Amino acid sequence: MKSKIKKLFLKTYGCQMNVFDSERIEESLINFGIKKVYEEQNSDLIILNTCHIREKAAEKVYSELGRFRKLKQKNPKLKIGVIGCVAQAEGQEIIERSKIVDMVLGPQVYHKLPEIISKIESNEKVVDTDFPLEDKFEKLNLTKKDKRNSTAFLTIQEGCDKFCSFCVVPYTRGAERSRSPEVVIKEANELVNSGVKEITLLGQNVNAYNCLNEKNKSIDFTSLIKILCKLNDLKRLRFVTSHPRDMTENLINLFGQEEKLMPYLHLPIQSGSNQILKKMNRGHTVEYYLDIISKLKLIRPEIAISGDFIVGFPGETEEDFQKTLEICEIIKYSQAYSFKYSPRTGTPSFEMNDISEKVKSYRLSKLQETISIYQREFQKNLVGTVQDVLIEKLGKLSDQYIGRTPYMNPVVIESKNNQIGKILPVKICETNGLSLSGEHVI
Ligand code: SAH
Ligand code: SF4
Ligand code: F3S
Repeated sequence: MKSKIKKLFLKTYGCQMNVFDSERIEESLINFGIKKVYEEQNSDLIILNTCHIREKAAEKVYSELGRFRKLKQKNPKLKIGVIGCVAQAEGQEIIERSKIVDMVLGPQVYHKLPEIISKIESNEKVVDTDFPLEDKFEKLNLTKKDKRNSTAFLTIQEGCDKFCSFCVVPYTRGAERSRSPEVVIKEANELVNSGVKEITLLGQNVNAYNCLNEKNKSIDFTSLIKILCKLNDLKRLRFVTSHPRDMTENLINLFGQEEKLMPYLHLPIQSGSNQILKKMNRGHTVEYYLDIISKLKLIRPEIAISGDFIVGFPGETEEDFQKTLEICEIIKYSQAYSFKYSPRTGTPSFEMNDISEKVKSYRLSKLQETISIYQREFQKNLVGTVQDVLIEKLGKLSDQYIGRTPYMNPVVIESKNNQIGKILPVKICETNGLSLSGEHVI
């Protein structure tokens, strides 16, 4: 079946999982004669793949839709879709608030897209926020790529059952479920065969992965990593995002056993105060988190730790906040993401008293200052060392290439030869605090 719609403008917000979904959507629509274009004016279908995590992220959608109104006036045949987490959270309300929208689809129904596109072509409006049981990726008919970048993401798990009191993910992505090991291994094989050297396994709680294989044997995250590390041409494996509660002893030990597992772990703590962690319903204490990190550092001393923080959670006192700064000093994160608390309708903490914007802003800038001290320190410690750098892409200037160290730091090198996809020994010469520059040593 070919569609009358030919040109898709697809814009993606939010986390890597949305990026992964968007790529799969593009690959599946090619089979229906729909190709991606890079200018919205030049498209006949605009899709926004949206994020609901903080208020700002969700509001962006409506300002974008405001801009598209004019385009639709000029071209009444233009169709507009809102998909992803805002779509799941707001459903029908989106069509009521913005009349130009033709379809609203939650994150679990993308395999129905071809059928839905033919409906909107005949001027039907479609809202689908189901959580069907089938695996949307397996049902998507994807175009196989012969050649890919040297790094790729692979979603192995979706959804969340943790219900942190501030977070919309359990509602927008649904209950925790894992993709079958056979399918994951098959997809990893395809990636490696098309040139991928590094795979990052994705999941909202990636280390909660657990799924029965065809022989009814339970495959947990550690077993899956062991299997994937056996793929000959796969050189590096990473995963994101992990929850402290699912950091099993076996998983921690794996960092000392599997060379392909990179010495980098993104492990959000959110706050350094037990009082706040309790209110956040994180299900772990500061001491428990620190214990995981010390075990990891014992097993792989050079491991880089990254994290997420929320400042200004309801009831957060200056003392609580100081404890968050202390955690940064103890862990010495190689990098970390930090956010002002954003109250989200429907989550338990929405009912708690929000603290002032001024205090949140002050705490955020103070925290970011502290994080950047340790980020710089981490990078400075690499200067003078030789690191294996996987070259991912061209840099801005000619003969420039950009790659990453095992610890995820971006590195710029110069070379006359095409180095993309190679892992090169690079002597790190300089840092500007954000990225490193170095020389290929032979
Ligand atoms: N599953 C991951 C995080 C997913 S959301 C985990 O549990 O670590 C990514 C980050 O957004 C979270 O780690 C948190 O720091 C931030 N976040 C989530 N909800 C938020 C909210 N309501 N306000 C501010 N930041 C939030
Ligand atoms: Fe959100 Fe918490 Fe689940 Fe992470 S673990 S997705 S922060 S509810
Ligand atoms: Fe945003 Fe949904 Fe990801 S809310 S962070 S796009 S799971």
